[in-house]
Amino acid sequence: MPDDHEELSPPPGQDEPSPAGPAGDPDSVVPATEAQKEQAKRQFELKMRVRETLDDIDQTICIMSGKGGVGKSTLAVNLAVAFAQAGLDTGLGDFDFTNPNDPTMLGLSGEHMEAYDEDLVKPKQARDNLRMVSTGFLVEGEAPIAWRGPIKMGVMRQFLADLKWDHLDVFVVDLPPGTSDEALSVAQTFPSGTPCIIVTTPQETSAENVRQNVEFCEKNGLEVVGVVENFAGMRCPSCGDHVEAFPGDGGDRLAREAGTEVLTRLPLVPAISQAQDEGTPAVEMEPSNAAGDRLVELADDLQDRVLAN
Ligand SMILES: Nc1ncnc2c1ncn2[C@@H]1O[C@H](COP(=O)(O)OP(=O)(O)O)[C@@H](O)[C@H]1O
Ligand SMILES: [Mg+2]
Ligand SMILES: [Zn+2]
Repeated sequence: MPDDHEELSPPPGQDEPSPAGPAGDPDSVVPATEAQKEQAKRQFELKMRVRETLDDIDQTICIMSGKGGVGKSTLAVNLAVAFAQAGLDTGLGDFDFTNPNDPTMLGLSGEHMEAYDEDLVKPKQARDNLRMVSTGFLVEGEAPIAWRGPIKMGVMRQFLADLKWDHLDVFVVDLPPGTSDEALSVAQTFPSGTPCIIVTTPQETSAENVRQNVEFCEKNGLEVVGVVENFAGMRCPSCGDHVEAFPGDGGDRLAREAGTEVLTRLPLVPAISQAQDEGTPAVEMEPSNAAGDRLVELADDLQDRVLAN
């Protein structure tokens, strides 16, 4: 379907034609034109193809957070690498449109995905047993991705529909940050009951923030399997004692509200940030570090909890 492929890289600022009546008149009932019928038909076919793509995947795990910068990508990338190291056929999907930095964390920034044929895209081999897709692979150079909501949804569907995985044991999905429509539209692409992990920091304790996270998962039928608290204290550089870098009980609060538990707490390890910027995720760092160790344990735990059934 050549038309679909044109939608893969829409020029910034261009919107999809509205299927509704004339703007500003919500009550007007306009008979569907041939173009609209054609559009609806294409959307339906696309949905079916997304379903086919997802049929190749044994288990999807979504990673979400109430806002950016809390460690969502760190969790997604490291879990994916740890699953792959454990021998699972793993996929990583980076669907953050504004800051798709998972490729950077794996040393793949500036790369692009190849096509199998005119209809299918080949996920990028990132490590042994690990293949990935990223909205970052769709950007040329430093060009910012500034597509608006409806376009993003179209791109996202198209993106999923065009992927050829053959088979995955597990697909780790880095959702767009926050609880925006954008995050919503990506999350809704996955079937109801898809497991989800919420990342937060000890400081995120506002009732508003907590409620939004929980509502987001409920609205999308995502099943919260637990909370990961990131930046949960650090080793004091002078005496080696554990210190609370950002004091608070954000993880516990969120877990309580969501009727779940804190799966793990990741300490702040300053060296991680630079290593990941240079393409080495925490779980691959030598020597190992406290956050990386906990991430490996978490991957192990999730294999029993989520992947075994
Ligand atoms: N536990 C940690 N210790 C040190 N740095 C961290 C830790 N978790 C994340 N970072 C760093 O913080 C920044 C934000 O993390 P990231 O995973 O990109 O957040 P998000 O995807 O939620 O925006 C990155 O530079 C990352 O390397
Ligand atoms: Mg991120
Ligand atoms: Zn000290």
